[in-house]
Amino acid sequence: MEFRSVTGADYYVISPLINDWWGGRQMSDMLPKLFFDHFSNSSFIAEEEGKIVGFLIGFFSQVHLNEAYIHFVGVHPEFRKNNVGKQLYQKFFDVVKQNGRSVVRCVTSPVNKGSIAYHTKMGFDVEMADKQIDGVLVHPDYDGSKQDRVLFVKHLS
Ligand SMILES: CC(C)(COP(=O)(O)OP(=O)(O)OC[C@H]1O[C@@H](n2cnc3c(N)ncnc32)[C@H](O)[C@@H]1OP(=O)(O)O)[C@@H](O)C(=O)NCCC(=O)NCCS
Repeated sequence: MEFRSVTGADYYVISPLINDWWGGRQMSDMLPKLFFDHFSNSSFIAEEEGKIVGFLIGFFSQVHLNEAYIHFVGVHPEFRKNNVGKQLYQKFFDVVKQNGRSVVRCVTSPVNKGSIAYHTKMGFDVEMADKQIDGVLVHPDYDGSKQDRVLFVKHLS
């Protein structure tokens, strides 16, 4: 497994895969090309024999100067539970620390139980919220009407 920074060209390979990798959910519109062009110093690709098997798109907050944010992480279904996601997150945590930051945030949908389990394993805490669904704290209408979200935060040591 090899890891490298993303390039603009990766968008054309990854974008058509996203909805499949997310189990048929319509997700690719949430990851336009700009992320591959303007966040390449904090976004990573995992490759096996030249084939993209995982990616992480993250960035440093422009406003909260101690914080970074992971917008998307995806691993090819056949390569899951092999620590690809964990290694992508470790690459991101390293670059966050190198840039003098110590807080990482991300957001997921309550339906995405795999993502909730994965982030919990990766040491993220769920942020406090008024609403609970299936025992998980969710922020109602966080991303608009009926778009509830689970908010994660991790403080890097
Ligand atoms: C979430 C995702 C990125 C995890 O990638 P992965 O490479 O399979 O994760 P890893 O193998 O590195 O797993 C890290 C830990 O999380 C656990 N984990 C990963 N997915 C899990 C799941 N679905 N259920 C329970 N635990 C899970 C692993 O068992 C491992 O735990 P361990 O450290 O005790 O061994 C991958 O399942 C995926 O691409 N899902 C679809 C896209 C998505 O939902 N992305 C997240 C929201 S943006």
